[in-house]
Amino acid sequence: MSKRAVLLTLSALAVAALQTGCGEKALTYQTNIKPILEANCVSCHVPGHAGHDKSGLRLDSYEAMMKGTQFGPVIVPGSSVGSTLYRLVAGQADPSIRMPHGQAALSDKDVATIAAWIDQGAKY
Ligand code: HEC
Repeated sequence: MSKRAVLLTLSALAVAALQTGCGEKALTYQTNIKPILEANCVSCHVPGHAGHDKSGLRLDSYEAMMKGTQFGPVIVPGSSVGSTLYRLVAGQADPSIRMPHGQAALSDKDVATIAAWIDQGAKY
């Protein structure tokens, strides 16, 4: 690779790191994830609403989110691709169960933030 190509690759990586919010600062549930869930998910994923009543998944606290559905966890710390929650918001599952259910998809930025947070270990 030429020097120029190396530089271009490095700057592209730096931009990608900034966009997904990785880099020096670790992502946390409190700072980075809770606001996304509150804006897009919590209204259906609390008792008395379909998202919770059909799946058992509450999304109004860290503990509930990590506990998952009646069938088990939807987050595998360290593996976004292994996490049901990520696959659903990224549209990698059956379109009929893409989340948020029946609403516009999350922005690419929010999806990338969720992926990076899970890959960093899904910290509180
Ligand atoms: C409009 C209501 C609604 C919203 C908003 C919503 N969900 Fe859901 N969610 C559902 C319903 C209904 C189910 C149950 C789907 C089924 O089993 O058919 C579900 C199920 C799930 C499941 C479990 C899937 C499984 O393995 O069974 C996950 C994970 C999930 N939602 C994540 C989210 C996330 C993350 C958001 C926000 C980005 C979100 N949901 C927003 C209604 C909603």
